[in-house]
Parts: sequence; structure tokens; C-alpha cells
Amino acid sequence: MSHHRIIQILRHGQPDDVVTLKGWVRTKREQKEFTFVEINDGSSLKGLQAVLPQDLPNYGELVKGISTGAAVIFQGALVPSPGQGQRVELRVSQGELVGDCDASYPLQKKRHSFEFLRTIAHLRPRTNTLGAVMRVRNACAAAIHEFFQGQGFLWIQTPIITASDCEGAGELFTVTSLDLNHVPRGDSGAVDFGQDFFGKQAYLTVSGQLEGEIMATALSNIYTFGPTFRAENSNTSRHLAEFWMVEPEMAFCGLEGNMNLAEDFLKFIFRRVLELCPEDMEFFNDRIDQQVLDRAQTIINNEFARITYTEAIDHLEKASKVFDYPVAWGIDLQSEHERYLAEELFQKPLIVTDYPTQIKAFYMRLSDDAKTVAAMDVLAPGIGEIIGGSQREERLGVLEQRIQAQGLPLEDYWWYLDLRRYGSVPHAGFGLGFERLVQFMTGMANIRDVIPFPRSPLNAEF
Ligand code: 4AD
Ligand code: MG
Repeated sequence: MSHHRIIQILRHGQPDDVVTLKGWVRTKREQKEFTFVEINDGSSLKGLQAVLPQDLPNYGELVKGISTGAAVIFQGALVPSPGQGQRVELRVSQGELVGDCDASYPLQKKRHSFEFLRTIAHLRPRTNTLGAVMRVRNACAAAIHEFFQGQGFLWIQTPIITASDCEGAGELFTVTSLDLNHVPRGDSGAVDFGQDFFGKQAYLTVSGQLEGEIMATALSNIYTFGPTFRAENSNTSRHLAEFWMVEPEMAFCGLEGNMNLAEDFLKFIFRRVLELCPEDMEFFNDRIDQQVLDRAQTIINNEFARITYTEAIDHLEKASKVFDYPVAWGIDLQSEHERYLAEELFQKPLIVTDYPTQIKAFYMRLSDDAKTVAAMDVLAPGIGEIIGGSQREERLGVLEQRIQAQGLPLEDYWWYLDLRRYGSVPHAGFGLGFERLVQFMTGMANIRDVIPFPRSPLNAEF
């Protein structure tokens, strides 16, 4: 028996179409001759109203068993709906209760706080907001692949378990290969958890960039799209210990080409998601953040501002605002600084380039002034940093010096240095935090609410 997704019915369904719906009950309203049931199947924000007429053979039993959360299959014909806000409704001719729902179901029809929903992460995708988030997240992912595939970039899968610390920031989760059949024990007989991975120190990746560079210096243009991990203080509304990153890398490319790609990329994603998920985006605008649709249009229709770090510091020093963290050339821009620039000063995304060498990673290309590197961060209103990228250091000698200057072991990077020995080229790329993109797109306040399973002590069950 084929069935129909509600989104298709809402968009294209015509009176007299015979359809089969499989979904979950949101509400039930009993009247004298009919019972009205709203069904949702996750394909759309809005459910479809189904009308159960009293002459159904199993009417009494069916209506009794149906409650919010129950799983049902309904078959019947679409009829014009007298109700407001819907063109058609389903006149049920055959109904089946597939799974009833216990009265303890926590998602009764009322608003729940996102904090509460995080404690029932296994049920929260059944809510309107989390359903909309998952559809928009999916549309973002589809648009990302569409954008890169359309331009001939190859999608490369980089390792999750790795020996290298890409960012050199020491924010790594360690991986151990604990063989439970041969549990190593220390002198006291206690289990020794300090064992390395196949005899080497291994970590969960913080970024696929270095491996991405390997591929770009063979295949020209590539992108990664996968999970990354950071053992940093993630107790903010913008940080996760496990998040997804999109990292394009381009050979024969400098900072200018990198900035152009980042801007075209963000514009494309916003345009495409508005086409793919118009109802969900309107919902976010109505219920979560009234800036959502305006912001999307601002991004699509305006050029991003582009300033250097030195100019950014200048703007911050001239600002009438008092910052908690004092401004001076050389500081790492704090989220309050980034948000002032993007939200108040420029009121649109801006790209900040040429950061001081000391505050950026070893692989960024040293500029002629020897004080700055060819870095670029894209700062977004309401979010702050959404993209971080750079032109890479392609000169062998300079790169060796930079690795050593940062106190990193040169021998660990022998393969990375080889890329500069054998046919080195200028190349550049960036990393987009996927969850920050979804936050930016939807206006959701907390990053934990735009990922299906946020990693935190609270949600350690799965
Ligand atoms: O600026 P980051 O650290 O850059 C890199 O990792 C480079 N290797 C990227 C590259 O050039 N290929 O991280 C990139 C982006 C940030 O701009 C931010 O959007 C996101 O990743 N990000 C996080 N998102 C959620 N939680 C965290 N803890 C994040 N840390 C970084
Ligand atoms: Mg960064």
C-alpha cells in the first residue's frame, strides 16, 4: 500500500484524491457526528486534519484508542476543508490504530521550554520546533552538497581518529584502544586506561583541514563535511563538544578567491533553504526570531563587508560601547566584539582579514609585514564567527619556522611538509561550523537545539 506524505498533500492535494496517511496524532476533538484528528508525519510543520465519521465500522474503538502521540494509518478521500488555513482535509473511510500512546506521554499540547526538551531528547523531534530544525538542517546539508558538486568540488571523507592536532590548540579528546580481553593493569592491579591507539597517541579530529590539503594538492578543489570534536569549554550557546564542519580547500587559490567562495556559498545556502523549506522558515520568523526572513534577504541581496583586523580594532576603539574585554591590537576578538561589528556597526555579515600571527594557527600564510597572516573570519549578526579560514603557508622554510615557533613537534608534520616539497602551490580554504549555520538560519538561541543529539552530561544516554 503506497502512502502519501503530508507535505505533498498540503501543497498539491486535490479534492477526491484518495490517499493513505501514516503518522502520529497531535490533537483529537470529538463532536456529535464526527471526530477531528490532526495528524503529523514529520514531513511538514502543519499537520493534516482528518475527519472520522461515525459510520466507520470501528469508530467507537478507534476514537477511544486515539490520543495525542498515538500512531495511526488513515485512508480516505480529500475533501475541500471548511476550516481556516487549510485547503483540504481527509475524510477517513478506513482507520487503524497502529500504536496507542500511554497517558504518561510528556508532549501534551502545551509549550515546553527548550531546557526541558533537552532532558527528553528522544521525544523532542516530535515537537514543531525541533521538527522544523531537522528539516532546515537537512535542507542546509543538501544545499551544501549541491553548491560544491555544482562547481566540481569533490567530497572527501577525512579521518575521525587521527594523530594530528590541526589547530595546534590542544583541545583534543584522546582515543585509547582498550582491548577488553587483554586489559592492561598497572602495578596495583588497577586497569590502565592510558594505553595508546595501536601504539600511537591518537585523538578525535578537531578539523579535516590538513587531510583536505593533501587531497586539494592532488585533486584541485575538494570539501569535507563531517563530525569534528573539541575538548574546549563548551558551556556556551555557540559551542559544542561534537559538531559538524564543512571545509572546502582549493589549490591555486589565494585569500581573495577564498573570501569570494565563502560569500557565494552562504548566499547560495540561504536562497536554496528558503526555496526548500518556506513554511519552516516562516515558522521560525513568527515564533523564534522575527529577524529570520529579513536577515536571509539581507544576506542574499547585499555584499558582505570586508575589513582588516587592524580596521576592526580601530572601529572597536572608536565605539561608544564599553566592552567587558578591553580592546587593543593583538587581542583575539571576543564574541562581544564580533557581535558589535556584525550586528550594530555593519548590520550584515562581514569578513575580517589579516589577523595578528600570534593569535592564529601555524598553517596560515605569513604576510610580508611579518606581523599578520592571510586569515579570514566571517562574522554573522547574532552569531559572531561562523566561518574561519585562510590562505595556507605554501613555502617550506617559512612553514617549518612557524611550526617550531609554536612549539609543535616538526617530525609529526613530515607528510604535511612534503606537500610543500613536491609541487607546492598557493592554496586556501575555510571551515564553516554547520550548527552555527543552522542557528543563523533559524534564529535558534542555543546551539544544543539545532543538533539532533547534543553531547553533554545531560544527554549521555545515546
Ligand atoms: O575557526 P576554526 O577553529 O577553524 C578550523 O578548524 C580550520 N581548520 C578551518 C579551515 O580553515 N579549514 O573552526 C571553524 C568553524 C568556526 O568558525 C565555527 O563556526 C565552528 O567551526 N566551530 C564550532 N562550532 C561549534 N562548536 C564548537 N566548539 C566550534 N568550534 C569551532
Ligand atoms: Mg576560528
